[in-house]
Amino acid sequence: MKHFLSVKDVPDLSALVKEALAQKQNPFGNKHLGQNKTLGLLFFNASLRTRLSTQKAAQNLGMEVMVMNVTQDSWGLEMQEGAVMNGDKAEHVKEGAAVIGQYCDIIGVRSFAGLTDKEKDCQDEVISQFVKYAGVPIVSLESALRHPLQSLTDVITIEEYKTKPRPKVVLTWAPHPKALPQAVPNSFSEWMNVANVDFIITHPEGYELDTEFTGKARITYNQKEAFEGADFIYAKNWSSYQQYGQIVSKDPAWTVNAEKMKLTNKAKFMHCLPVRRNVVVMDEVLDSPESIVIPQAGNRVWAAQAVLKEILTSLP
Ligand code: CP
Repeated sequence: MKHFLSVKDVPDLSALVKEALAQKQNPFGNKHLGQNKTLGLLFFNASLRTRLSTQKAAQNLGMEVMVMNVTQDSWGLEMQEGAVMNGDKAEHVKEGAAVIGQYCDIIGVRSFAGLTDKEKDCQDEVISQFVKYAGVPIVSLESALRHPLQSLTDVITIEEYKTKPRPKVVLTWAPHPKALPQAVPNSFSEWMNVANVDFIITHPEGYELDTEFTGKARITYNQKEAFEGADFIYAKNWSSYQQYGQIVSKDPAWTVNAEKMKLTNKAKFMHCLPVRRNVVVMDEVLDSPESIVIPQAGNRVWAAQAVLKEILTSLP
């Protein structure tokens, strides 16, 4: 594995899931692999899980880790090619990424969609520029378009909790007070399309995701119909893709509650976290035995560890 930016970088998903579960069983068995190697983690946006789980995964593999909150601690980075840099950006990514690549063997980058310029977000500019200029493997810690470490975690968690070979997995939109990017649902959809699951997406009209990501998923505006017989309910808010970055509904009828969960096949409840209680999902669901959001977040370590191990093994 050279870079880890999407499911397309994974030649064999089932082998990677097995590797992550093997890492979970034996977290320190590959500590030699990362000896004298450095992971740089660059955050253009806030994080709890991605930051700590990736750091822990790297430490389990014997790596040194350097973390930078880029927008607070470093020079403003210009991303645009040929920019006349007479504004507030002091350094171009051509130098910035290349210099960080001199210090690190692998670089993780988190940079969310701005949600104001659809064309720019669709180019996934920040992560693409790091791939172009850093000269070392890049791991997406969530880009404008995708959150592959979260999605790999979700596949691992479904593998652990499924009670049938091909479970029914429902991605449901849920309300939220703020406009959120589409990266998590895009990525989840992309990975579910590769995994062996019966995948359904439900959302209100106006929240259609880019078909590049939803692929062959069944899509319905009827949330209750989608929930019927489901084995996993994966809740997430996202802003409109068509009316780019806009909130077109905050309908509380879409909040996941115990009544809707009763329609399912005793489904496990999943969410990538952080989650707004009693907005996205009611306490009665999040605090129920069916909620697996904490072990799901715990699996972030093994997803990151499997990916870092693959990249370390491929380093020249
Ligand atoms: N799920 C997730 O990526 O969490 P953080 O934003 O806290 O890293």
